[in-house]
Amino acid sequence: MNEFYQKDIISIKDFSKDQLEKIFESTDKIISLNPIDRREICKGKTLGYLFYEPSTRTRLSFEAAMASIGGNSLGISDITSSSTQKGESLADTVRIISIYSDAMVLRHPLDGSSRFAAEVSDKPVINAGSGTEEHPTQAIQDLYTIKKEKRKIDGLKIGIVGDLKYGRTVYSLLHGLGNYDVDVRLISPESLRIRSDSTYEIKKKLDYTESTNIEDHIDDLDVLYVTRIQKERFPDEEEYLKVKGSYVVGLDLLQQMKDDSIILHPLPRIDEISTDIDKTKNAKYFQQAEYGKYTRAALLGLTLNENGF
Ligand code: CP
Repeated sequence: MNEFYQKDIISIKDFSKDQLEKIFESTDKIISLNPIDRREICKGKTLGYLFYEPSTRTRLSFEAAMASIGGNSLGISDITSSSTQKGESLADTVRIISIYSDAMVLRHPLDGSSRFAAEVSDKPVINAGSGTEEHPTQAIQDLYTIKKEKRKIDGLKIGIVGDLKYGRTVYSLLHGLGNYDVDVRLISPESLRIRSDSTYEIKKKLDYTESTNIEDHIDDLDVLYVTRIQKERFPDEEEYLKVKGSYVVGLDLLQQMKDDSIILHPLPRIDEISTDIDKTKNAKYFQQAEYGKYTRAALLGLTLNENGF
C-alpha cells in the first residue's frame, strides 16, 4: 500500500526526507503526464474545503489541482455565508464536510485546529494554514521549487527575511529544511525573530544564524525567501507600524546578489518585493505558485489512491 494513503497532512514534521523526495517524484510525474491520463488519478473523487481565513493561492491551487486529476471540489471559502454564523461548531462543520467529500482542506486562525479537525473527521485532513503554527503544503511547494530551480537543496545558502515570528510558512519551511544540509540565515527586525518555543526543535536539525541586516548576507545567498510582515497577526497595531516596510527587495539589492540566485515568496506580497523584480530571471515566486498546483495534485493523488498513481 502507498504510505500516504488516507494520511492526514498536519505538520511538515511528520514527513521524512525520503517521503518528501517521494512527493517530489510524484509531482514530477504529475507534470509529465498528459492531461487525459492525469484526469484518471482522482476521477470521481471529491475534495472538501473549509477556510476560516482569506486565501487566494492555497484554496484555488487545491481546487485547480483536484480538477486537473479528474476530481471535483466543494466547500466553504467565506465562513460568513455558512452555518457557522448560526453558531455551528468547528467540529460539526468538519464532520459535515467530511460526509460530503473524500478528503478535506482546512485553514483556521488557531494553532492546533487541523490536528483537532483530524480527530473528528473520518476523512483525511490537510492543513492549509493553522494560526501562526504551520502551513505544510506551502513548505512542500517551497522545497520543490528550490529543488527544481536550483537542481538541489543540499549545500545551498538560504536567507529567510521578514516576519519570522508570526509567519507559519517560515516554521514549516524551517522544519522541512531540517531534512537537508543547508546554511540558513534568518533576517528580521528584533521584534519579529523566530519564536523561542520553536528554536529548541529547529536547532536540533538545522544550522542557522539570526541577524537584522540583510546587506550582511545578500551577496552570499543562493535563495532569498521573502515574507510579508503580517499586519493581521499583530496584537497591537503600534508594534506593526514600527516594523512595517523594514525590508524591501528592489533592483539595488538584486544587483548585490549572485547571478544565479533565486527569490521566492509564499505570497501575497504587499511592498516587500518591488514589482521591478518580477521580470528578472531571479524572480521565481510566480513559478513557485504554479508548482503549488502540481505538488498539491501529487499530494491528493497519493492521499486518495491506495496504490498511488
Ligand atoms: N501562500 C498562501 O498561503 O497564499 P494564500 O493566503 O493566498 O492562500
